[in-house]
Amino acid sequence: MEPYRIKVVEPIPQPTRQQREEALKRVHYNLFDLRAEEVTIDLLTDSGTGALSAAQLAAGMAGDESYSGSRSFYRFHEAVTELTGYAHILPAHQGRAAERILFSTLLEPGRIVLANTHFDTTRANVELAGAEARDLPCAEARNLDSPAPFKGNIDLDALAATLAGPDGSRVAMVVMTITNNGGGGQPVSMDNLKRTSALCRRYGVPFFLDAARFAENAWLVTRHEAAYRDRTPRQVAEEAFRLADGCMMSAKKDAIVHIGGFIGLNDPELAQRCELLLIATEGFATYGGLAGRDLDMMAQGLTEVTEPAYLAERADVAAHLAQRVRAAGVDIIEPPGMHALYLNAGRLLPHIPPHHFPGHALACQLYLEGGIRSAELGSLYLGEEDEQGNPVKSAPYELVRLALPRRVYTRSHYDHVGDTLARIAKRADSVHGFRIVEQSPILRHFRATLAPVPVES
Ligand code: F0G
Repeated sequence: MEPYRIKVVEPIPQPTRQQREEALKRVHYNLFDLRAEEVTIDLLTDSGTGALSAAQLAAGMAGDESYSGSRSFYRFHEAVTELTGYAHILPAHQGRAAERILFSTLLEPGRIVLANTHFDTTRANVELAGAEARDLPCAEARNLDSPAPFKGNIDLDALAATLAGPDGSRVAMVVMTITNNGGGGQPVSMDNLKRTSALCRRYGVPFFLDAARFAENAWLVTRHEAAYRDRTPRQVAEEAFRLADGCMMSAKKDAIVHIGGFIGLNDPELAQRCELLLIATEGFATYGGLAGRDLDMMAQGLTEVTEPAYLAERADVAAHLAQRVRAAGVDIIEPPGMHALYLNAGRLLPHIPPHHFPGHALACQLYLEGGIRSAELGSLYLGEEDEQGNPVKSAPYELVRLALPRRVYTRSHYDHVGDTLARIAKRADSVHGFRIVEQSPILRHFRATLAPVPVES
């Protein structure tokens, strides 16, 4: 059961089917353009969408809004230092700000960043700094149906070969995304982190964590890695941070706040250079683009997020929804992670070719049938067509992500999602695809407009 009770509630919008139909047409079938009040269950993201605790709100009320040296900063600093052990902590307004500051300080054209999988803003910030973002996911990650517990791992052989090979001298850093959002939300084992850390030390390459979901990763380690069965998630998290030279953190996930982030670093010279860029572009080093209350709420959230009862329930809710989805006849990336389920839309809708976007088709059906908003992670996101709409490149998988906001929806909300999917799956062959009407040159899934393509009989 949920290890909390509900003190403040917010009504859920309940548009009718006709209103949803009209809304979809109005936004030209781009779910990002819906107004949130047109959405009944919003599973677009788990980022900044969590519910604050009473203790977090109280901490926020005690926030000190001094421009520099506020009490809030010191409370935040102490909480992050205790958790991570890094010598230098810089607040930033969210994860991608931390990425931009670190990468534009550390990278230059021609350099390479290796990762288990770069999240999309992480990749974009590496590329904006002129460097190359190269993913080295482990082999198990390629089999979506395999229940292997640590499919978020980096491929250690490929990592060792790259570091020792002709590109080795160009590798500027190695990033481990925990959990691996771009790879189905799968966790990384401590063994994989340790071996990566050792390889990085051997080759003198800095090793960083993209720690957005560090607590969820730690929980899955205590469940599935024998050597860590008797540790607390907090102990696992502390050890993980100490295997790396620093981290970037989007606090909108595992600090359960609406806005916030930070950079942790051990290298004093790098910290000084990052701090100057932070001051020029985010804010002074003791607030980093945030209010004092945000820093206090982050500090409190970081202590709540590793509570075993909280993590156990979060994993259980994800497993509960996974069960409903499988029972509906829809496959997911196995095993279910914690922050999201990734539906295999390509398999559910084989009659829709990738360039007619089966993932997007399923996402639109989820909205139409149940008022549920999700995110396509398929060929609308990663593919490419020529001017006539013929396929040039398609995504490796056609997926839809159902992200689970923290402490927001209960099991009956998720049962509604399961029931809606079951209704769609029964008539899967009547679901139609889409074609793009207009698109932007980059990040097209955010701004594209689309039109339905009728099912061929
Ligand atoms: N790293 C990871 C692994 C993320 O999942 C995200 C954001 C970021 C960095 C960037 O952080 O949003 O605070 O700037 N992920 C969100 C998502 C947007 O929906 O998965 P941010």
